Amino acid sequence: MGGLNLKQLEGLSSEVIIERGKNAVMNTYGRLPMTIVKGDGAWVWDTEEKRYLDFLTGLAVNSLGHSHPAIVRAVQEQAKEIMHTSNLYWIPNQVALAERLVENSFADKVFFCNSGAEANEAAFKLARKYAKKNFGAHKYEVVTLENSFHGRTLATLTLTGQTKYQEGFDPLPVGCSYAKLNDLESLKAKVNINTAAVFIEPIQGEGGVLPASLEFLQGARELCDQFDALLIFDEVQCGIGRTGKLFAYEWSGVVPDIMTLAKALGGGVPIGAMLATDKVANAFQPGDHASTFGGNPLATAAGCAVLDVMLEDGFMAGVQERSGYFQKGLEELASKYLTGDPVRGQGFIIGWPVSKLGPEIVEACRLNGLLINCVGGKILRFLPPLIVEKPEMDKALEILDAVFSELW
Ligand SMILES: Cc1ncc(COP(=O)(O)O)c(C=O)c1O
Repeated sequence: MGGLNLKQLEGLSSEVIIERGKNAVMNTYGRLPMTIVKGDGAWVWDTEEKRYLDFLTGLAVNSLGHSHPAIVRAVQEQAKEIMHTSNLYWIPNQVALAERLVENSFADKVFFCNSGAEANEAAFKLARKYAKKNFGAHKYEVVTLENSFHGRTLATLTLTGQTKYQEGFDPLPVGCSYAKLNDLESLKAKVNINTAAVFIEPIQGEGGVLPASLEFLQGARELCDQFDALLIFDEVQCGIGRTGKLFAYEWSGVVPDIMTLAKALGGGVPIGAMLATDKVANAFQPGDHASTFGGNPLATAAGCAVLDVMLEDGFMAGVQERSGYFQKGLEELASKYLTGDPVRGQGFIIGWPVSKLGPEIVEACRLNGLLINCVGGKILRFLPPLIVEKPEMDKALEILDAVFSELW
């Protein structure tokens, strides 16, 4: 009998796992030569029991750190009861999570799915349905931003304003055009009576940790109102506490009509959500959209546990305080090594532009026990867990200092 069972995996070296992975797993990722098998708080361990500080958190997913007791407990208890029932029936945890999201945001209704791309796909569909129903068949166009990232399904890679993700997959769905971030004139040139929606990440994550300016967000809101288009915020990466508020839009005060979430919402259990006002959500009727797994008892138990922790008094203030400390530490290193453009971002989504050596710095950090990554080839990206403490941040800064003194 070929193949490994779970028991046989124990004790295998990363070399063996990687070798077997190359044979059996489809080749869609440029993976690093390591396997992470255990985590606790801000730390993870590889197969060889080497310890790393995880300042990437599985791409902004493990925001409460690894194995947070509240999430572990919620998942274990729910798994013992029932893991999945389908949306043919009401799901108590799903109702509870929807209520918490609604109570703490602009939204009135929530649709649950399993990933960021699915949340954006749902938003795209809802925007088109709403526009056609209320204004007619001509109104189906969607404006997104250059350099944005919205996912890898056919529709969401069309929303994604980076041709490298689209090449080879055409013909793409019609009706998308791309404006420039923080350039209101460029947005004005694209939005008109045919526009169903404008998609914006309040902070572009994969695009290089680029925050949308207050004026741009306000201008986008006004344009959308003028042309009866919906403003959609993709908070898949920057939402759920990452910026030091539950939702990034709270910093600007600019309120969208639809917002998408995923990543940190389940603390490691896959979940996505699309939130909307009643006026917009009412465009969907039973049968218009669905997901077998969406909002299942297990995923929404995890989501409820995440919000329980994040909504505790003082949690966000702590994130703001500690992220300010880390950002300041990075700024000091940036001026020590004269790396050029300023460190940017908000809370614990931070980009440090380096004009050269991005991948080499990331690799040297990894070898020295710090996990970060590099977006756009030259922006070091930091997405530490929101629970990270000062000694861990000091350790990360110390590793970065050593790496820069060696490589820069
Ligand atoms: C802003 C944003 N939207 C959407 C996505 C896609 O999410 P997923 O990979 O869960 O489909 C990502 C993933 O990085 C993202 O950063």
